[in-house]
Amino acid sequence: MGALRLDVVTIFPDYLKVLDLSLIGRAAGDGLITPVVHDLREWADDRRRTVDGPPVGGGAGMVMRPDVWGRALDRVLAAPIGGAATSGGTAPRTGGAARRVLVMPAPSGDLFTQRTAEDLAGADQIVFACGRYEGIDARVAEHYRDAGVEVRELSIGDYVLGGGEAAALVMIEAIARLRPGVLGNPESVIEESHGEDGLLEYPVYTRPVAWRGLDLAVREPALLSGDHARVARVRRDAAIARTAGRRPDMIRRLSPDRLDADDRAALARHGWAIPAGARGPVELLVRSARPDDVDALADLAARTFPDACPPALTPEQVASHTALNFTPERLSAWQADPRAILTVAELPDGLPAVWLVETAGGAGAVAPRELVGYSAVLLEIADRRGALLSGLDSRPDAVEVPTRADGATGLAAELSKVYVDARLRSSGVAAALLDHAVRAAAAAGVTALWLGTHDGNRRAQRAYRRRGFRAVGSRDYDVGGRRCRDVVMSLNPQEARGAR
Ligand code: ADE
Repeated sequence: MGALRLDVVTIFPDYLKVLDLSLIGRAAGDGLITPVVHDLREWADDRRRTVDGPPVGGGAGMVMRPDVWGRALDRVLAAPIGGAATSGGTAPRTGGAARRVLVMPAPSGDLFTQRTAEDLAGADQIVFACGRYEGIDARVAEHYRDAGVEVRELSIGDYVLGGGEAAALVMIEAIARLRPGVLGNPESVIEESHGEDGLLEYPVYTRPVAWRGLDLAVREPALLSGDHARVARVRRDAAIARTAGRRPDMIRRLSPDRLDADDRAALARHGWAIPAGARGPVELLVRSARPDDVDALADLAARTFPDACPPALTPEQVASHTALNFTPERLSAWQADPRAILTVAELPDGLPAVWLVETAGGAGAVAPRELVGYSAVLLEIADRRGALLSGLDSRPDAVEVPTRADGATGLAAELSKVYVDARLRSSGVAAALLDHAVRAAAAAGVTALWLGTHDGNRRAQRAYRRRGFRAVGSRDYDVGGRRCRDVVMSLNPQEARGAR
């Protein structure tokens, strides 16, 4: 690969003097790029070196003349490329014609992104035509395009600069650093914002480890662990968190087949689900249940409970359990009682049917704000009359309730439980609800969060284990008059707080 020739045509050649500095200056010194700056007025044809005129049709400002630009660009686009800029005659890169690109910076252009930079880094010559005033007569771009030149009208962002020079400098720096040899350490272009993985870069730190009360040993112990896999995971989680917070548009464009289970869990924690069959993450809202959710919630509860049941149960047994336990009255009582933490999940934008795989639970679109999952944490606290919440199962003996770190008595709660619409299975909705439940339990002072789940339901057990639950025993559980065997799992939310 020969040197990349970068021509800049401008009425302010001195503006481009910074190309002599830093990265670009060094790359030019090393013969990797060849910046050449031209004064547009050299191609004016009057004594006053005029380059502009009033807009045809009237209006404010001045427009740059096509005849002046035409003479300039004819000349610059015919420059020899592939070696020294001005000595001429050196052949372009081997194998095929040289690639010359005419870049016209303009706020009305296509957005210049890292992908554009990567593409343009493969050119042999880039000519930047820097407009001022109201811009360059539109026939200039049209003419060169018609003549077979690759013309790119590019904007560096949604704001208006005084002219194209600053934009050209931005683009030159972004493009040049991608040319081989320009950066000392080529690794630095692999893991960075707007890279191939579609995420912003994770936050970076250097020594000292503790600075002004901000101690990495406390905040980021994994980064000091020396465990490369752990460091990579923590960094990727941080990149996901940062991108979710700052650039939801980038999250929406992530490709599901490049996201592993840990990525999905991290996305779920930050409000994004990936339904099976979806083309990308969709926004997920996890919030406290409101009184007006109760009917939809009873419906969802009745719909999702059978999924968690062993196949041996008859539909009648399941229905009789549902009719007893998931009534609107029960859910309404939970919603109103501070001892129940009732959380729901909804997709604010809904989901088109084509984004969902058909499941036993049904096909069809998810409506905007339709409830797609819920969880209930029931605190084992007696009311003034000494009564526990109705619907709170009796705590199995196997569940121990540790005291709090400050020596105070511990508190038990039943996670009863996490249910998700079958259309959103494996989408991250369950992980998000579970994470929310554990955090809410921690905030409520719970030291033993326990649950019973059918012992044949390995998928659910795996999900609970992933969030830190451990099997502590078993219990018999009655569903519609039939005895079922449950695994009892438990976790101390105080210890799990902040854990992944
Ligand atoms: N000229 C003026 N504003 C610009 C922008 N945002 N991008 C590129 N060129 C410009």
